[in-house]
Formats: sequence, C-alpha cells, structure tokens
Amino acid sequence: MESIQPILDEAERAIAQAASLADLQAVETHYLGRKGAIGQLLRQLGTLPPEQRPQFGQQVNAAREQLERLFAERRAALEQAELAQRIEAERLDITLPGAPLRPARLHPLTLTMQRVKRALTGLGFEFVDGYDLERFEYNFGALNYPDDHPAMDEQNSFHIAPGYLLRTQTTSIQGRVFEQLQRGERRLPIRIAIIGRCYRYENVDATHSHTFHQVDAFMVDEGVSMAHLKGVLTQFAQLMFGAEVRVRFRPDYFPFVEPGVDFAISWKGGWLELGGAGLIHPNILERYGIDTERYSGFAFGLGIERIPMLQYGVDDLRLFLENDLRFLEQFPLL
Ligand code: FA5
Repeated sequence: MESIQPILDEAERAIAQAASLADLQAVETHYLGRKGAIGQLLRQLGTLPPEQRPQFGQQVNAAREQLERLFAERRAALEQAELAQRIEAERLDITLPGAPLRPARLHPLTLTMQRVKRALTGLGFEFVDGYDLERFEYNFGALNYPDDHPAMDEQNSFHIAPGYLLRTQTTSIQGRVFEQLQRGERRLPIRIAIIGRCYRYENVDATHSHTFHQVDAFMVDEGVSMAHLKGVLTQFAQLMFGAEVRVRFRPDYFPFVEPGVDFAISWKGGWLELGGAGLIHPNILERYGIDTERYSGFAFGLGIERIPMLQYGVDDLRLFLENDLRFLEQFPLL
C-alpha cells in the first residue's frame, strides 16, 4: 500500500491540473497505458511473497478503477468546457444592425416586355426573333414602300453597310415569315409576334429616342377583318392596362396596311395613341403567293416605352436609357 498511495495522489493532482482533453489523454497514458505506472505495479506482483500477492493485486485493481473513474469525470468536465467555449466563439449576435445588399431587379422595360409577351402569347401569338441589323429589303421593300417614300431616306435611318441598316420597325419580320411560308416551313393560319429594339436617326426629345423598342403582331387566316384586329387589340389593352380600357381607331397611312389606322386607348378621361395597325396590304400577301381571295390578315405595332410611361407616370423616355439607379430602383422588384 505504501507504494500505491503516492502514485494515486500524484495522479489525482495531474488529472485535476489537465487543462485540455489532449493534456488529459497524456496523463492517462502515463498512468493507465501499457507501460504506465499501474502496469509497473502489477509487474511487481511476481516479486512478492505468494501470500501477499492476492491483497496487493486487489489494491492495485482498486487503484486502477479509482483512476479510471477520475479520468472519466475529468474528461466529461473538459468536454463540457470545450463545447461551451466553441458555442461562445460561434455565437451569432442577431441584435447587430444588418448590412443590406441592393436587391437585383429587372429593368422596367424588361418587365414591360415580359408582360407584353405573356399577354400576346396568351392570345395565341408565337414570338419569333428578328435581326437588329436588318436588310434594307425587309425593312422597307418587302413592306410595300414606294421607291420614293420619305421613310427610306438615309437621313432617317442608320445605314451600316450597303443594303443593311439598323431596323427602324419590328414590322420588318413580316417578309421573313412570309418567305418561311413560301418555303413550306410554316403553314397558314399564322399568328406571329416579335418584340425588340428599333433605331431611327431622330432628334432625341422626351418622347423620341434614337433607340427604342417595339412590339409587332400579325395574323393571317381566312376571313380576318378589322373586327378581329379591334377585338385582339382590345383584349391586349385590357390585359396590359385593366378591364376598363377601350380602344379607338382613326384612319392613318402605312404602306403595308390597307386600311391603315392609328390606335389609342382610353386613359384618364382622354385618348392616348399607342401605335399603328391595319389589314395587311394585299400587295404584300400576293407578293408571297398568298391567295387574297381566301386569306387576309391584320397587323399592329406599338412602342414599348410608351407603356411604362403611362403606367408609372414617367414623362421622359430618356430616363429608361440612362441607367440611373435612383430612377430604376423606384420600380417594383420582379
Ligand atoms: C410603325 O413603326 C409601324 N411599323 C407600326 C405598324 C405596324 C403599323 C403594323 C401598322 C401595322 P410608327 O412609326 O408610328 O409606326 O411607330 C410606332 C410606335 O413606335 C409609335 O407610336 C411610338 O410609340 C414608337 N416610336 C416610334 N418612333 C419612336 C422613337 N423615335 N422613340 C420612341 N418610340 C418611338
């Protein structure tokens, strides 16, 4: 017993002083490990007289059990402490003020174009892509412009290369679609729409820009009349501006429609012009081999910028192109 007690006392002190789980592990190896102090005591067993062996053996075993209990207790206490320390270190202070990120949002023109697309898609129109850099022929010739029409004046459009210009109107898709019909890539009836940028060499003011957006839609089927045009435009306007909106036509001239009209919507007690429309000129249908005894079509086109200008009370279209965040952030997210 004299050789056991000092070892026990010394071990108890070392256990109490172990400041970490790693320290404790080292102490444990020192006393309980294969070559540890307790093991050495047991190896002394053989050097004792036989009658002393059982008692000595019991005492060493008791000492080992006591140490094992002390190690387990100390280990549990150290684990608790280390966990508490980690929780403290990782604590999230939810009372700190936030650091807001600017939420991403779509440009008001993009939002408007998405709504226009949804409305016209819902009315059965298939959206197709066109070309900003367009052949002169599709922008004008295919659309029944007389050779001396003032719109074709180089002064009014951006000519990029011989025979090519930046399209002045999305109506320029018509000739391409009619050619697809001729090649058998499409069949009548058709309902086509296009939305995109247009460019005109114009003086910029609050309602005109050199770069703007248009949407065009047209359909060709048997017996299409002005009544269909008015019906579709009324539905479109109601989807965009609300169920109360009405549509008004007034005679107007565009080379590619006959009769041609401008159309306006009722707005705040008055009328607001949105764009042009009419029945597709028979010259165009015949040019592409469509039997005008049997088929007719309507077409309409309008400026996109007008729509958010009306809806949000924006009085200068240039704001949409300047990308000033103070302006853009006033529009709804999504
Ligand atoms: C046309 O461009 C015809 N293609 C519309 C059309 C299509 C008529 C199909 C008949 C059948 P207009 O030049 O009026 O028409 O332009 C239509 C709309 O585009 C205008 O009402 C206006 O809202 C918009 N727009 C035209 N020029 C500009 C511009 N410089 N800046 C902003 N918007 C413009």
